[in-house]
Formats: sequence, C-alpha cells, structure tokens
Amino acid sequence: MKNTQAYIKKNKDRFLDELMETLKIPSISADPKYAKDVKKMAESIKKHLKKAGCDKVEVHPTAKHPIVYGEKMIDKKLPTVLVYGHYDVQPPDPLDLWDSPPFEPVIKKTKLHPKGAIFARGACDDKGQAFMHVKAFEAMLKSKELPCNVKFMIEGEEEVGSTNLYDFVKKNKKKLDCDVILISDTSIINNKTPSITTGLRGLAYMEVEVTGPNRDLHSGVYGGGVANPINTLCKMIASLQDKNGKITVKGFYDKVETVSKKERALMNQAPHNEKAYAKDLGVKETHGEKGYTTLERTSIRPTLDCNGIWGGYTGAGAKTVLPSKAYAKISMRLVPNQSSKEIAKLFTKHFKAIAPPYVKVKVTDLHGGEGSVTPTDTPEYKAAEIAMEKTFGKKPLPSREGGSIPIVALFEKELKVKTVLMGFGLNSDDIHSPNEHFGLFNYYRGIETIPYFYEAYANLKSS
Ligand code: BES
Ligand code: MN
Ligand code: MN
Repeated sequence: MKNTQAYIKKNKDRFLDELMETLKIPSISADPKYAKDVKKMAESIKKHLKKAGCDKVEVHPTAKHPIVYGEKMIDKKLPTVLVYGHYDVQPPDPLDLWDSPPFEPVIKKTKLHPKGAIFARGACDDKGQAFMHVKAFEAMLKSKELPCNVKFMIEGEEEVGSTNLYDFVKKNKKKLDCDVILISDTSIINNKTPSITTGLRGLAYMEVEVTGPNRDLHSGVYGGGVANPINTLCKMIASLQDKNGKITVKGFYDKVETVSKKERALMNQAPHNEKAYAKDLGVKETHGEKGYTTLERTSIRPTLDCNGIWGGYTGAGAKTVLPSKAYAKISMRLVPNQSSKEIAKLFTKHFKAIAPPYVKVKVTDLHGGEGSVTPTDTPEYKAAEIAMEKTFGKKPLPSREGGSIPIVALFEKELKVKTVLMGFGLNSDDIHSPNEHFGLFNYYRGIETIPYFYEAYANLKSS
C-alpha cells in the first residue's frame, strides 16, 4: 500500500476540497422541502464514484430518496467489500445555535482537534466518513493496489429509518452479493485510542397523543374542573421510569441480553473520565440506571427518552388555555435480543393501561430497528484490527456503542454477511447537534486506514 499512501499524501488538499463541496448541499432527508437537494447530493456521489474509478454507477430512485450504487469488479476470485454509508443529514435546527452556517463548511481548531476540524452538518455523520471510502478507493485504484472488488451503496434515508433501503436490499441480493460489509458511521474512543464498534443499539420510536376535553378551554372558567392533558401526559411519562432508572413498561426487560461480568469489566477499562464527561456536558453529575456505569448505560443497557413534547400555547407571551390535546415523541434504545416490534407493542399496551379514565390516548409506532453485536474472532474484525494498528500504532479496543444503524441487522439477516463498523468520528463531534464537526486528523486517518483493511482482508481470505 506504499503507492496508495503516497497518492493520499499527494492529493490531500484536493480530498478535503471535494468533501467541503459536498457539505454545501443541504441533503436533509426528513424535510420534504429539501428533496431536490437530497437528489442533487445523490448525483454528486454518483459523479465522485465515477471519477474515483467505479465502472458501474447507478442512482436508484425509491418512493422517497435515491440510493446510489457503484462497483468496481476486478477479479471474481478476489473477495468483495461492500461499503455502506449515508449521504443524508439531520435537520440543522436550532439554527441560531450554530457559530457558522451549517451548510457553509469552515475549518476551525478545537481543543480535541488541534489540527482543525470541518464544521458543517454531515461533516462527521456521515458525508465525511462515507467520503473517506470513496477517496481510499480512488487512491488504491489509481495506485494499482486495489486488492478486492468493491461495491458502494450510499443511501439517502438513514436518518429517517432507511425504509426504502430495506426493500432495495431484499430485492437486490444478487447485486449486493459480497464477503463483508464495511461501514464508517460510528466513533473511536479518542484520537489516541482507536476502537472498533462491536455493538449498536436498536430503536423503537413512538408518538403519543393524549386528549382531554373535546376543545381548548378557558383555564379560569374550566381550570380545576377537568384534567389538563399536558399535566396528565407529564405524569404518564414520568411514571415510565422508577426511582432506580428502570423502565416500567411491562415485559420491557424480558429479553434483554445479560452481559457477562468479564465483558463488563473489560468495557469499563476503556478510557473514560466521569468528571470531564459531566463537565463537557455542563451537568453537575451524570445520571442513569442504578447499578451500571456511564459506559454501560450508554451501550449495553436499554433506555427510554422523551424526544419532544408539545401542546397548548407555546407562542410569545401568555395565553390562559386549558388545551384539549398534548403530544410527545418517545423513543427507546434497545439492546440485542429485544425486538423493536415487540417493544413497540408492549409500550402501546402499557401506555394505554396507565391512562387515567379522564383522557383518551393514541399511540403510533413511527419507526424502529434492531441492534446488533459483532463477533471479534472473524477475518473481517481481524482485518480492521490490523489496519487500525498500522495507522494508530496501537491495537484498537472493541467498543459497544449507543447509537443505532438498524440496517446492519438486516444485512446480516438478508445477505448473511457480517459487518465491520470501523468509524473514525468522536462522540464529542456534535453529530445531530449544532456545530457538528469532523477532525481533519480523523478524515485523513480514515482514508489512510481503509486501504490497510482491504489489504489485510484480502490476505486473510486467501490464506
Ligand atoms: N451514525 C449514526 C449512528 C451512530 C452514531 C452510531 C454514533 C454509533 C455512534 C446514525 O446516523 C444515526 O444517527 N442513527 C439514528 C437511527 C435512525 C434509525 C434514525 C440514531 O441512532 O438515532
Ligand atoms: Mn450516521
Ligand atoms: Mn445520524
């Protein structure tokens, strides 16, 4: 990979400019107003895949946002790597909390990124990380050192549940036939401590509506005589966790995987400073399920969070109203063996059961997905380990993460292929938040590491 690494060095600045260009496209999948930009972004990925050297590049339209597919098949006897990523991004709101506009990328230095970081929505999640693969592929191909066949599948609906990708995968098993799936859409522990993600949580996302009186009322005339649905909803939500932070939904923990003492001890050896963690977030202390550490609470334990709550009057000034309706979005992060559909059912049943007789409730299952765990004794994990050790000079730690990439479980089920989660972001890069950024160190380290993965994987598969 000598020529490849030299090529990367030589083309460093261009690789950065090209990424910055794509970060200007507001490919927000959740908001229909941006559908044109999402499409534009798909076309841009297509252009870059072609330019990098893919023989076949296709933009597949779906009921919502297109899926970009590209491939370079060099030899049927060589293993095939399928790279998955997403080019859609989260909405940038609240806009006024950004120090610079979300779709006008700028490079700024930070404490954790002394060499600079690119600030823009999608810089880390996942345009920057997906782009590392396009550039690494270009470098290997142009240096005549590509050791595997490559397929790219970059989608535009990850942030809204990957609904159309599920269908695409089921219908295109032959096209997607591969030996391993490689994804960079997760984090490393820190820039001195490389890690490979060995677990992701699942998700069940619900919306609830609580109805009290049949119309909005004067809160003086009627207040006291009829239950306020916002007050009722708040009490219901509060009851979903007990004083030990355990979720009270009946049956919720029935299938939760018990992680061995040994594995728990191991995962708690990862560098983590509780005080610094709290300080960075501006809280006096951390908080969560009793009996578990922060590292465990955010990876191997399920959670329940209210993501939004609304109702009544929220405009300027005061309005004395007793509203008819109150709403909330509630999501649960799930761990292996919990089924998102089953949890959604349990939640619906429980939420209806705890509703007092003076309100009506409606529960909607918005979307969900399963978690996953990756074994560490496979050629693909070993290849990632070898690759990271080469560039970081240190063996990476296995690390289970709290976020979700539900399509990983589907890949395993439908394509019967294992996924390697070799991400290069930091958890502090503010993905989904204002001022999302991606370190230049991380971007380049990713581009440098990926070719070593291909090399090690090809070697392990042929031996
Ligand atoms: N890249 C993230 C998931 C992630 C982030 C995993 C950091 C591990 C570490 C992904 O884009 C994401 O945000 N997924 C959503 C799930 C989806 C169903 C909306 C999530 O986790 O909320
Ligand atoms: Mn992502
Ligand atoms: Mn995301």
